[in-house]
Amino acid sequence: MNKTARPAVRPYIGGNWKMNLRLASAVELAETIHADLSGDAGGPQLDPRIDVAVFPPSPYLMSVGRAMGHGPPSLGAQDLSPHDDGAYTGQVSAGMLDDLNARWVLVGHSERRHGLEEPPETLRAKLVRALESDLETVFCVGETLEERESGDAESTIVGQVRSGLEGLAAPTPERIVVAYEPVWAIGTGRTAHPDDAEEAHRWIRRTLGELYDREFAAATRVVYGGSVTASNAAELFRRPEIDGGLVGGASLKADSFAAICRAAEARLGQTSA
Ligand code: 13P
Repeated sequence: MNKTARPAVRPYIGGNWKMNLRLASAVELAETIHADLSGDAGGPQLDPRIDVAVFPPSPYLMSVGRAMGHGPPSLGAQDLSPHDDGAYTGQVSAGMLDDLNARWVLVGHSERRHGLEEPPETLRAKLVRALESDLETVFCVGETLEERESGDAESTIVGQVRSGLEGLAAPTPERIVVAYEPVWAIGTGRTAHPDDAEEAHRWIRRTLGELYDREFAAATRVVYGGSVTASNAAELFRRPEIDGGLVGGASLKADSFAAICRAAEARLGQTSA
Protein backbone atom coordinates (compact mmCIF):
# COMPACT_ATOMS: atom_id res chain seq x y z
CA MET A 1 0.00 0.00 0.00
CA ASN A 2 1.17 3.48 -0.84
CA LYS A 3 1.68 5.08 2.58
CA THR A 4 1.24 8.59 1.30
CA ALA A 5 -2.31 7.67 0.24
CA ARG A 6 -3.43 7.28 3.84
CA PRO A 7 -5.73 10.04 5.09
CA ALA A 8 -5.11 11.76 8.40
CA VAL A 9 -6.32 9.51 11.21
CA ARG A 10 -6.74 10.39 14.87
CA PRO A 11 -3.93 8.80 16.91
CA TYR A 12 -5.28 6.37 19.51
CA ILE A 13 -3.86 5.59 22.96
CA GLY A 14 -5.48 3.03 25.25
CA GLY A 15 -4.50 2.33 28.84
CA ASN A 16 -5.39 -1.25 29.80
CA TRP A 17 -5.29 -1.42 33.58
CA LYS A 18 -5.99 -5.19 33.53
CA MET A 19 -6.75 -6.64 37.02
CA ASN A 20 -4.77 -4.02 38.93
CA LEU A 21 -5.43 -1.28 41.48
CA ARG A 22 -8.12 -0.94 44.13
CA LEU A 23 -11.04 1.45 44.05
CA ALA A 24 -9.29 4.38 45.73
CA SER A 25 -6.11 4.08 43.67
CA ALA A 26 -8.10 3.61 40.45
CA VAL A 27 -10.08 6.79 41.10
CA GLU A 28 -6.94 8.69 42.01
CA LEU A 29 -5.18 7.52 38.84
CA ALA A 30 -8.19 8.53 36.73
CA GLU A 31 -8.35 11.97 38.37
CA THR A 32 -4.63 12.57 37.85
CA ILE A 33 -4.66 11.47 34.21
CA HIS A 34 -7.76 13.58 33.54
CA ALA A 35 -6.19 16.65 35.18
CA ASP A 36 -3.02 16.24 33.15
CA LEU A 37 -4.64 15.63 29.74
CA SER A 38 -7.34 18.28 30.15
CA GLY A 39 -4.87 20.96 31.23
CA ASP A 40 -6.47 21.26 34.70
CA ALA A 41 -3.12 20.37 36.29
CA GLY A 42 -1.62 23.58 34.89
CA GLY A 43 0.23 22.17 31.90
CA PRO A 44 -0.94 22.28 28.28
CA GLN A 45 -4.07 20.41 27.30
CA LEU A 46 -3.47 17.28 25.19
CA ASP A 47 -4.32 17.96 21.55
CA PRO A 48 -8.01 16.99 21.27
CA ARG A 49 -7.33 15.28 17.93
CA ILE A 50 -5.85 12.37 19.92
CA ASP A 51 -8.28 9.72 21.17
CA VAL A 52 -7.36 8.43 24.63
CA ALA A 53 -9.24 5.77 26.59
CA VAL A 54 -8.58 3.91 29.83
CA PHE A 55 -9.86 0.41 30.54
CA PRO A 56 -10.27 -0.10 34.30
CA PRO A 57 -11.44 -3.36 35.89
CA SER A 58 -15.22 -3.61 35.38
CA PRO A 59 -16.24 -3.16 39.05
CA TYR A 60 -14.59 0.26 38.93
CA LEU A 61 -16.03 1.50 35.64
CA MET A 62 -18.66 3.75 37.18
CA SER A 63 -16.35 5.37 39.74
CA VAL A 64 -13.53 5.86 37.23
CA GLY A 65 -15.98 7.29 34.70
CA ARG A 66 -17.25 9.79 37.26
CA ALA A 67 -13.69 10.77 38.19
CA MET A 68 -12.96 11.66 34.54
CA GLY A 69 -16.20 13.55 33.85
CA HIS A 70 -16.51 14.11 30.12
CA GLY A 71 -12.83 13.22 29.70
CA PRO A 72 -10.24 13.03 28.39
CA PRO A 73 -9.69 10.13 28.60
CA SER A 74 -12.85 8.28 27.64
CA LEU A 75 -13.93 5.12 29.40
CA GLY A 76 -13.44 1.58 28.12
CA ALA A 77 -14.21 -1.95 29.31
CA GLN A 78 -11.78 -4.86 29.11
CA ASP A 79 -14.32 -7.40 27.86
CA LEU A 80 -18.00 -7.90 27.04
CA SER A 81 -20.40 -10.80 26.80
CA PRO A 82 -21.55 -11.98 23.38
CA HIS A 83 -25.07 -12.15 24.92
CA ASP A 84 -27.51 -9.39 25.77
CA ASP A 85 -29.19 -10.69 28.95
CA GLY A 86 -29.80 -13.98 30.67
CA ALA A 87 -28.23 -16.82 32.59
CA TYR A 88 -24.59 -15.92 32.02
CA THR A 89 -23.03 -15.79 35.47
CA GLY A 90 -20.17 -13.36 35.74
CA GLN A 91 -20.60 -11.81 32.30
CA VAL A 92 -21.19 -8.15 31.48
CA SER A 93 -23.34 -7.13 28.51
CA ALA A 94 -22.89 -4.31 26.02
CA GLY A 95 -26.06 -2.70 27.38
CA MET A 96 -24.65 -2.71 30.91
CA LEU A 97 -21.43 -1.12 29.68
CA ASP A 98 -23.47 1.49 27.87
CA ASP A 99 -25.34 2.25 31.15
CA LEU A 100 -21.94 2.93 32.74
CA ASN A 101 -21.04 5.34 29.91
CA ALA A 102 -18.28 3.09 28.60
CA ARG A 103 -17.45 4.11 25.06
CA TRP A 104 -14.83 1.52 24.15
CA VAL A 105 -14.39 -2.21 24.67
CA LEU A 106 -11.45 -4.57 24.18
CA VAL A 107 -12.11 -7.80 22.30
CA GLY A 108 -9.62 -10.62 21.89
CA HIS A 109 -6.93 -9.43 24.27
CA SER A 110 -4.26 -12.12 24.43
CA GLU A 111 -4.86 -12.65 28.14
CA ARG A 112 -8.31 -13.90 27.12
CA ARG A 113 -7.47 -15.35 23.68
CA HIS A 114 -4.43 -17.24 24.91
CA GLY A 115 -4.56 -16.97 28.71
CA LEU A 116 -8.19 -18.10 29.02
CA GLU A 117 -8.19 -19.98 25.71
CA GLU A 118 -11.24 -18.14 24.37
CA PRO A 119 -11.83 -19.67 20.94
CA PRO A 120 -12.03 -17.63 17.75
CA GLU A 121 -15.82 -18.22 17.52
CA THR A 122 -16.33 -16.65 20.94
CA LEU A 123 -14.15 -13.67 20.08
CA ARG A 124 -16.02 -13.24 16.83
CA ALA A 125 -19.36 -13.35 18.67
CA LYS A 126 -18.09 -10.67 21.06
CA LEU A 127 -16.87 -8.57 18.16
CA VAL A 128 -20.24 -8.88 16.42
CA ARG A 129 -22.03 -7.84 19.61
CA ALA A 130 -19.70 -4.90 20.16
CA LEU A 131 -20.10 -3.70 16.57
CA GLU A 132 -23.90 -4.00 16.81
CA SER A 133 -23.90 -1.94 20.02
CA ASP A 134 -22.98 1.69 20.49
CA LEU A 135 -19.54 0.68 21.77
CA GLU A 136 -16.36 1.30 19.84
CA THR A 137 -14.04 -1.69 19.67
CA VAL A 138 -10.35 -2.38 20.05
CA PHE A 139 -9.84 -5.79 18.42
CA CYS A 140 -6.55 -7.34 19.57
CA VAL A 141 -4.46 -9.77 17.56
CA GLY A 142 -0.91 -11.06 17.88
CA GLU A 143 1.31 -14.10 17.59
CA THR A 144 3.07 -16.12 20.28
CA LEU A 145 6.86 -16.40 20.40
CA GLU A 146 6.63 -19.94 19.05
CA GLU A 147 4.57 -18.76 16.08
CA ARG A 148 7.04 -15.96 15.35
CA GLU A 149 10.08 -18.21 15.63
CA SER A 150 8.57 -20.82 13.37
CA GLY A 151 7.83 -18.21 10.69
CA ASP A 152 4.06 -18.29 11.28
CA ALA A 153 3.54 -14.75 12.55
CA GLU A 154 1.98 -13.47 9.33
CA SER A 155 -0.43 -16.38 8.87
CA THR A 156 -1.42 -16.22 12.55
CA ILE A 157 -2.16 -12.50 12.54
CA VAL A 158 -3.95 -12.60 9.19
CA GLY A 159 -5.99 -15.61 10.39
CA GLN A 160 -7.02 -13.78 13.58
CA VAL A 161 -8.14 -10.69 11.67
CA ARG A 162 -10.06 -12.81 9.17
CA SER A 163 -11.74 -15.03 11.75
CA GLY A 164 -12.92 -11.91 13.59
CA LEU A 165 -14.18 -9.87 10.67
CA GLU A 166 -14.73 -12.06 7.60
CA GLY A 167 -18.30 -11.82 6.36
CA LEU A 168 -19.21 -8.89 8.63
CA ALA A 169 -20.39 -5.63 7.13
CA ALA A 170 -17.64 -3.01 7.17
CA PRO A 171 -17.75 -1.09 10.44
CA THR A 172 -17.32 2.67 10.33
CA PRO A 173 -13.51 2.96 10.47
CA GLU A 174 -13.69 5.34 13.45
CA ARG A 175 -15.53 2.66 15.46
CA ILE A 176 -12.86 -0.02 15.30
CA VAL A 177 -9.18 -0.01 16.19
CA VAL A 178 -7.01 -3.06 15.57
CA ALA A 179 -4.32 -3.56 18.20
CA TYR A 180 -1.28 -5.61 17.23
CA GLU A 181 -0.03 -7.07 20.48
CA PRO A 182 2.62 -9.77 20.06
CA VAL A 183 2.15 -12.12 23.01
CA TRP A 184 5.90 -12.28 23.65
CA ALA A 185 6.06 -8.51 24.10
CA ILE A 186 3.22 -8.17 26.62
CA GLY A 187 4.47 -7.49 30.12
CA THR A 188 7.96 -8.74 29.28
CA GLY A 189 9.85 -5.49 28.70
CA ARG A 190 10.69 -6.88 25.26
CA THR A 191 9.16 -4.35 22.88
CA ALA A 192 8.80 -5.32 19.22
CA HIS A 193 11.32 -3.59 16.98
CA PRO A 194 9.48 -0.79 15.15
CA ASP A 195 10.36 -2.45 11.81
CA ASP A 196 8.69 -5.70 12.92
CA ALA A 197 5.68 -3.85 14.34
CA GLU A 198 5.29 -1.93 11.08
CA GLU A 199 5.52 -5.11 9.05
CA ALA A 200 2.77 -6.71 11.15
CA HIS A 201 0.65 -3.57 10.81
CA ARG A 202 1.02 -3.80 7.02
CA TRP A 203 -0.18 -7.44 7.12
CA ILE A 204 -3.21 -6.30 9.13
CA ARG A 205 -3.95 -3.40 6.82
CA ARG A 206 -3.52 -5.55 3.72
CA THR A 207 -6.02 -8.03 5.19
CA LEU A 208 -8.50 -5.24 5.99
CA GLY A 209 -8.15 -4.12 2.38
CA GLU A 210 -8.88 -7.67 1.16
CA LEU A 211 -11.89 -8.02 3.48
CA TYR A 212 -13.29 -4.58 2.66
CA ASP A 213 -11.45 -2.08 0.52
CA ARG A 214 -8.36 0.10 0.38
CA GLU A 215 -10.13 3.15 1.79
CA PHE A 216 -11.33 1.23 4.84
CA ALA A 217 -7.85 -0.21 5.40
CA ALA A 218 -6.22 3.21 5.12
CA ALA A 219 -8.70 4.90 7.46
CA THR A 220 -8.64 2.21 10.19
CA ARG A 221 -6.27 2.77 13.04
CA VAL A 222 -3.79 -0.01 13.79
CA VAL A 223 -2.00 0.47 17.11
CA TYR A 224 0.86 -1.39 18.76
CA GLY A 225 0.83 -2.95 22.25
CA GLY A 226 3.52 -4.78 24.18
CA SER A 227 5.90 -3.09 26.63
CA VAL A 228 5.20 0.43 25.36
CA THR A 229 6.83 2.92 27.74
CA ALA A 230 7.38 6.66 27.95
CA SER A 231 10.90 6.00 26.61
CA ASN A 232 10.05 4.00 23.49
CA ALA A 233 6.65 5.48 22.56
CA ALA A 234 7.99 8.33 20.41
CA GLU A 235 10.12 5.98 18.31
CA LEU A 236 7.15 3.67 17.70
CA PHE A 237 4.64 6.43 16.97
CA ARG A 238 7.01 8.04 14.46
CA ARG A 239 6.36 5.12 12.13
CA PRO A 240 3.64 5.85 9.57
CA GLU A 241 1.94 2.48 10.09
CA ILE A 242 1.72 2.79 13.91
CA ASP A 243 -1.30 4.91 14.78
CA GLY A 244 -0.83 4.78 18.54
CA GLY A 245 -0.54 2.26 21.33
CA LEU A 246 -2.34 -0.03 23.74
CA VAL A 247 -0.46 0.29 27.00
CA GLY A 248 -0.50 -2.04 30.00
CA GLY A 249 2.03 -1.54 32.80
CA ALA A 250 2.99 2.01 31.86
CA SER A 251 -0.68 3.08 31.99
CA LEU A 252 -0.80 2.44 35.73
CA LYS A 253 1.29 5.54 36.46
CA ALA A 254 -0.24 8.87 35.48
CA ASP A 255 3.05 10.48 34.48
CA SER A 256 4.20 7.70 32.17
CA PHE A 257 0.75 7.33 30.60
CA ALA A 258 0.45 11.08 30.02
CA ALA A 259 3.94 11.12 28.49
CA ILE A 260 2.92 8.31 26.10
CA CYS A 261 -0.21 10.28 25.13
CA ARG A 262 1.92 13.34 24.45
CA ALA A 263 4.36 11.27 22.36
CA ALA A 264 1.40 10.71 20.01
CA GLU A 265 1.10 14.47 19.43
CA ALA A 266 4.11 14.31 17.12
CA ARG A 267 2.04 12.13 14.77
CA LEU A 268 -0.40 14.94 14.13
CA GLY A 269 2.20 16.84 12.16
CA GLN A 270 2.96 13.71 10.14
CA THR A 271 -0.54 12.51 9.38
CA SER A 272 -2.74 15.59 9.34
CA ALA A 273 -3.45 17.22 6.03
P1 13P B 1 2.29 -4.10 28.71
O1 13P B 1 2.32 -2.69 28.21
O2 13P B 1 2.33 -4.21 30.20
O3 13P B 1 3.31 -4.95 28.02
O4 13P B 1 0.84 -4.69 28.30
C1 13P B 1 0.41 -4.55 27.00
C2 13P B 1 -1.00 -4.94 26.92
O5 13P B 1 -1.35 -6.09 27.08
C3 13P B 1 -1.99 -3.87 26.68
O6 13P B 1 -3.25 -4.41 26.41
